Amino acid sequence: MAFTPLPKALATAGLVMLGTSAAFAADSPALLTGASATMLANTCMGCHGPDGASHGPATPTIAGLSKDYFVDVMQGFKSGEIPSTIMNRIANGYSDDEIKTLADYFGNKPFVKANQNFKPKLARRGAKLHDKYCEKCHGNGGQSAEDDAGILAGQWAPYISWALADFISGHREAPRKMKKRIEKLLLKKGAAGFDALVNFYASQR
Ligand code: HEC
Ligand code: HEC
Repeated sequence: MAFTPLPKALATAGLVMLGTSAAFAADSPALLTGASATMLANTCMGCHGPDGASHGPATPTIAGLSKDYFVDVMQGFKSGEIPSTIMNRIANGYSDDEIKTLADYFGNKPFVKANQNFKPKLARRGAKLHDKYCEKCHGNGGQSAEDDAGILAGQWAPYISWALADFISGHREAPRKMKKRIEKLLLKKGAAGFDALVNFYASQR
């Protein structure tokens, strides 16, 4: 029998070929629904938690993100445009259609806010800074997925801190207007301003 390459995710999920037909292995979005969407997603849950709700703190929760943001960020990992420790290698193993399937799958799961420590005083200061500098694009205190800008409220604080550090250093390119806000905040409040923001996002449970 000729070897039929399976989508990498199926192989890494530890599933043995079940008398694979060429049609099943084909990269067709129509076939990547139902059970096979779950199979694709299973590979992610080892790190991102059941249904994408991470037990954190180094790995972000990926449930409930908007489809557009999810696809953009996966493509950004793939191209290397968004810096990552591990996601570049992982995203490279998925086709555009598989990424859309994953975006749908996780987008339909609820974002579960992490239960983590924070400093109340800093969180209050952060709430004000958020309103002034970030709310415009990260609506509802950073809870909204509809802005296509990720979810900040209740996301794991170490992950948010690293993401911010990448934006500040220019490692990860921020949208032009976000970059301006970040520079302004850095100028006015220094690193303490970002510390306050991180505490504000962690305070939302
Ligand atoms: C080995 C652990 C691991 C596995 C497996 C993994 N991820 Fe990740 N993921 C991470 C880490 C860590 C990050 C943070 C970026 C980085 O450093 O790579 C991340 C970041 C992400 C983000 C960005 C979240 C945001 O808010 O911007 C998305 C989306 C994502 N992963 C999707 C997936 C999908 C889909 C899969 C399965 C196909 C997957 N990940 C498998 C560890 C993992
Ligand atoms: C003009 C709109 C805009 C403003 C203002 C803005 N952001 Fe963003 N932000 C975005 C967009 C769009 C993305 C997604 C970028 C990408 O795809 O890489 C993003 C992404 C992020 C992320 C990464 C989320 C993740 O899960 O990886 C963080 C953290 C973040 N913004 C924090 C902030 C903070 C803090 C402020 C205020 C100081 C702010 N942003 C202001 C539009 C904005």
